[in-house]
Amino acid sequence: MKNETGDQKFIDQFEKDVLEFFFDKVRGNLWPYIYGTPQDADDPVRGGILYNEMLEGEKDYYLYKYEAQLFQSKGKDIASLIGSNATFIELGPGSEQSLRLKTLPLLRACTDLQGYVGIDISQSFLDKGLEVVRNELPNIEISGMQQDFTKLKELPEFDNQVIFFKGSTIANLRRDELPDFISQIKELAAENHYLLLVHDCNQDEESLMKAYHNEGMGVFMANIMYRIHRDMNAVGMEPQAFRYSPEWDPEGHDLKHILVANKAQKFEIKGKTVEIAEGEKFHTLSSFKYPVKVFEEMLAPSGYKPIDVFLDDSQRLTAHLFTAS
Ligand SMILES: C[S@@+](CC[C@H](N)C(=O)[O-])C[C@H]1O[C@@H](n2cnc3c(N)ncnc32)[C@H](O)[C@@H]1O
Repeated sequence: MKNETGDQKFIDQFEKDVLEFFFDKVRGNLWPYIYGTPQDADDPVRGGILYNEMLEGEKDYYLYKYEAQLFQSKGKDIASLIGSNATFIELGPGSEQSLRLKTLPLLRACTDLQGYVGIDISQSFLDKGLEVVRNELPNIEISGMQQDFTKLKELPEFDNQVIFFKGSTIANLRRDELPDFISQIKELAAENHYLLLVHDCNQDEESLMKAYHNEGMGVFMANIMYRIHRDMNAVGMEPQAFRYSPEWDPEGHDLKHILVANKAQKFEIKGKTVEIAEGEKFHTLSSFKYPVKVFEEMLAPSGYKPIDVFLDDSQRLTAHLFTAS
């Protein structure tokens, strides 16, 4: 079995999560694995590529555009609260485009910015991202760590440190994972630091369905089955026999990414048999859409104090600035 990071711990976690998904009916736990990369030209595992194609092709997927607008219009306001001499530690910076359109407008708005650290599981995303920041901001300290941000053991310490997590990835964590993740970050970061988290708080089913229930998103989301087939060596699995059909649970603020089996099938994973019925639903991951107050309440037990909240013009994309002190 191969994996693009070559990181054995990551492979072990993937195996554990997939086994729990099929045999223990754990749901929504496959979010860390959707950005798979091909190992050769014929490899159908292309999550990272399909995500970018979806961003380019699906005009109703508003999250990326509106988040870019948010940083471009409110970057100065956020930066003025953070103050001078800041160093940003960004979790999962993403593609070159993401750095150019979202991260850089914010970094440029900061007075006497000191540094930038990127932490990404993908060495290729990280290398490209750091190159972009280095070229655009040649006078600051720049470094990177190739790591899974959910398994961090330490973080570098700086004066006026900002932990930055954009792209609504925080809203992919399961509700039971979120408190531990946030507490872990608080423990590892410098005693006084800011936490800047961005997610989508839209509760409108119609615009959510337009954003998610489309062909580009469907192909991207269904690709996880090819990754399971490849990396779990799932003998007899037909990864193409699933269709995407998201569901909105307004009470849970939960946009569920669901794959529906087009046919019955039976296959082997790690010596155990998986049996799937036609029409069976598989909730692979969620994009939670927490309203502002709900999100702040979820973070309250960690001890983070909300400082301010910034929204884009559509009132959907939300940047929360918290302080640890
Ligand atoms: C495609 S991007 C989307 C989010 C991105 N922050 C943005 O705003 O565009 C996801 C990024 O997070 C990284 N990533 C995903 N899961 C990760 C994890 N568990 N640890 C570290 N990086 C991760 C991916 O490699 C990628 O760079």
